Amino acid sequence: MDSIKVKCPGTVANLVCGFDILGLALNEPADIMELRLLDEPRVLIRNRDAFNLPTDPEKNVAGVVLLSVMEKLGGQTGFELTVEKHIKPGSGIGSSAASAAGAAVAANHLLGNRFSTEEVVQFAMNGEKLASGVKHADNIAPCILGGVSLIRSIHPLDIISIPAPDLYVTVVHPQIEVRTADARQILKQQVLLRDAIRQWGNIAGLVTGFMKSDYDLIGRSLEDVIIEPVRSILIPGFDEVKQKCREAGALGGGISGSGPSIFMLSKEEKTAQEVEAVMRAVYTRIGIDFNTYVTTINKNGVEKIS
Ligand code: HSE
Repeated sequence: MDSIKVKCPGTVANLVCGFDILGLALNEPADIMELRLLDEPRVLIRNRDAFNLPTDPEKNVAGVVLLSVMEKLGGQTGFELTVEKHIKPGSGIGSSAASAAGAAVAANHLLGNRFSTEEVVQFAMNGEKLASGVKHADNIAPCILGGVSLIRSIHPLDIISIPAPDLYVTVVHPQIEVRTADARQILKQQVLLRDAIRQWGNIAGLVTGFMKSDYDLIGRSLEDVIIEPVRSILIPGFDEVKQKCREAGALGGGISGSGPSIFMLSKEEKTAQEVEAVMRAVYTRIGIDFNTYVTTINKNGVEKIS
């Protein structure tokens, strides 16, 4: 096999209370990437979309991942990558992670799966470092593994897949730009002990809620007293969307990754659609363009499609 086509899912990182340690994969949207082996050590990138991302591999999220694979390999192997992005960069639904994880998984396939999942995650995190300035795996891990991931630690890497019930995920992406690097910069470096206690109670509650399919516990635990109060200021309409979506029956939700997208979890498809209507109504009234998705949790992660 000297070429492969993969589908790379969008992801929701943080899951409200689990900043940098929790994430889940979405069935929609997803990027498509085609990777081919070259017999010279270079990385060629072609974009088949309108996002105009850099094709210089040093400045491209997937490019730096492939360069790190090449460096590990030594020798004469290179890569030609064609990217068809559907996850808008800067949306907060794991666009950079999809590029990074897709490149790492596709390269590993072409190389006979010689690297472990842990090594693949390490390669992919080089892309996140370029995108946000910091290595974090809460988009990368669910993108690669599918489902819900807990990143207990990244030094050393310790990723746990959390079983979760079938849930519907409604996402609204208001078309404003929030750069992850900026959304990280504004965060306070210290937290109060009482906030930390509340937060780790919620994280434990959310993980337990997923594992026991306890929908009420999931809903109660989708609370963030540390990050959301700071970041939500960057997202017009956030408080209104959150309140009205809960009133419409969503279990709960909040900022997707570093925003500006907002996600909500629902038990039933009908509720997820009603939640979408609420989101649409708010942004239509405010006068900000938006995209919405009503989708489910992706179980497979990056997938070979040909
Ligand atoms: N955990 C990351 C953040 C996800 O919230 O900054 C965004 O890449």
